[in-house]
Amino acid sequence: MRTIAILNFKGGVGKTVTTATLACLLAKRKKRVLAIDADSQGNLSQYFGVEPTEDDTCTTMELLTSGAGYYPDFVTPTCIDDVDVIPADIRLLAADVDATVRGEAHRDAIESLRLALEEDAGDPDSYDYLLIDCPPALSTACAAALIAADEVIIPIRLDAFSTGGMSNLVFQINNMRRINPRLRVRGVLVTQYTKTEEERQALEVLQNSPLPVFQTVIRFSKRVCAGTFAKMPLVEFSPWCAAAQDYRDLAEEILREDGEGRGKA
Ligand SMILES: Nc1ncnc2c1ncn2[C@@H]1O[C@H](COP(=O)(O)OP(=O)(O)O)[C@@H](O)[C@H]1O
Ligand SMILES: [Mg+2]
Repeated sequence: MRTIAILNFKGGVGKTVTTATLACLLAKRKKRVLAIDADSQGNLSQYFGVEPTEDDTCTTMELLTSGAGYYPDFVTPTCIDDVDVIPADIRLLAADVDATVRGEAHRDAIESLRLALEEDAGDPDSYDYLLIDCPPALSTACAAALIAADEVIIPIRLDAFSTGGMSNLVFQINNMRRINPRLRVRGVLVTQYTKTEEERQALEVLQNSPLPVFQTVIRFSKRVCAGTFAKMPLVEFSPWCAAAQDYRDLAEEILREDGEGRGKA
């Protein structure tokens, strides 16, 4: 099982779209995927039509406060074959409130996901990919994700504010490596690309930086926003828009690097 956190402390950069779309595309390539919603806004869950009810006990909040519970107990199947989700809603904010009043519970919550996944290591029936959609802040759930993950994908938009925030992000990831030495940046993923001159220049700067950058760049497509109203994953809602095609290339790039590729999609 490969655990990948989709992270950027900036909102609106495409973390959730990337998580939902990659989950579907990896599943289409016969991988078993678990998508964990670590954002209290619950957008990832909504893309998959999973919206926890008030008394639902199968959410990321319960997983984090279960004391390293058996994580498959918190999983909900989705409308997409081979994609399951651990959903989240606004109650996940309670994990942070808890953290401020009860330090020890906070530490346990942060550790719980890693411990839960460790128990599963080596099980041939477990998931191939576990994708964690992180919130735009270093919250309890985000810290839990970074301690459990093997890799981080960093979606960014090529504007001055996003690229400026990268050094802080890399600092935080390096900091986490003291607790989770496995953690590495898998790649920076450019999203919502419109090919302006400024973006072209920013892309060149990024590609010449020491950070790994995915070869695939995700183009801006109006259909992505339309899909949020339909609350459907992009590859189901608009499989042939430019962004969906680029995400297919991204899935192939990832599979190829993982030794599972079949050449360009
Ligand atoms: N490739 C794209 N083309 C056009 N709009 C996009 C693209 N990727 C994301 N968006 C839009 O940007 C907004 C933020 O995306 P989202 O994935 O929710 O970001 P985050 O999770 O980082 O906050 C959404 O309205 C989404 O529809
Ligand atoms: Mg999001």
